[in-house]
Amino acid sequence: MINRIIEIKKELGDDLLILAHHYQTDEIVGVADFVGDSLKLAQYAEKNKSAKYIVFCGVHFMAETADILTDDSQIIIMPDNNAGCDMANMADILQTEKAWKKLTQIFGNNIIPITYVNSKASVKAFCGRHEGTVVTSSNALKIVEWGFNQKEKIFFLPDQNLGRNTAADLGIKLDEMAVWNPIAETLEYDGDISNIKVILWKGYCYVHHNIDVKKVMALKKNFPDVKIIVHPECQYEVASIADFKGSTEYIINQIENSGKGSFWAVGTEFNLVRRLKEKYSDKNIEIIDKESKCKDMSLTSAKNLLRVLEGILRGEIMNKVNVEKSIAKDAKKALDTMLSLSI
Ligand code: 13P
Ligand code: SF4
Repeated sequence: MINRIIEIKKELGDDLLILAHHYQTDEIVGVADFVGDSLKLAQYAEKNKSAKYIVFCGVHFMAETADILTDDSQIIIMPDNNAGCDMANMADILQTEKAWKKLTQIFGNNIIPITYVNSKASVKAFCGRHEGTVVTSSNALKIVEWGFNQKEKIFFLPDQNLGRNTAADLGIKLDEMAVWNPIAETLEYDGDISNIKVILWKGYCYVHHNIDVKKVMALKKNFPDVKIIVHPECQYEVASIADFKGSTEYIINQIENSGKGSFWAVGTEFNLVRRLKEKYSDKNIEIIDKESKCKDMSLTSAKNLLRVLEGILRGEIMNKVNVEKSIAKDAKKALDTMLSLSI
């Protein structure tokens, strides 16, 4: 299958671009033209104007982002269009509109919405309509800081952990952060609401949220020379005691640039940590939690990639990702603001 994928890539030349996220399996990473974190993938898709077909090996919100940022003539395809993101699914547009209505009743016009790129296109469009923007785990600090220069308060969705960790890095205290519960439609906060600076949507990524702080503390106690590095989708309790935190690209760079024999405990998705362990065998690299597996990232395989590529050759487009025009227009506004702030 891999040989046939390589043959088709040669045949289609510049008409085809295969993009892959760092959480993809080795077989996919091995045949991709470009592998990156969410920010780099969005930037790469936006810059490429020559590919007629962009096959996105990742999850749905990433392919949607590529569709929004590329020209109308470029076709975005997913090898398996069931590859979604449980966290992105925790915020839909109806819930978001309802939350906004309530929050603006409480806080007036002093609030700006910022969504993590791990969200539905309709939620990004909502942010575009309300002067807000998008963040990824690589640029969150810079962009949330920008948000505070626009308005007094930030409505951050859907990942409460990235929102909390980023706000804490900017000096916002935990008791200045409230949580919006989209199921109960209530603001979870004890205290005087005039102290609230950040409202966090009660969403999370199960892969990172379940990394247990006790495991991290035990590692630190038993191995004093271990460096703990985690993704900022981990809970605050974990992220705040880690030695380093950052996007998948950041994690790769830190480990790549570390000395021979250095010891790393990594809190992110299994496929990436296993690849790092294999590539840097001169370093001691361990995953913090062996259960850190994203079921959706692993849905893409050589088999379903080959199937959509054979389809392209036959003129049959399978699993086309198509963001509705009116949504794409507003979502692009939010994404363009992010990209201009990320240079
Ligand atoms: P980054 O690659 O941007 O760090 O994102 C990680 C992630 O959760 C993708 O779903
Ligand atoms: Fe979504 Fe988490 Fe999987 Fe990333 S790792 S795609 S945030 S569920």
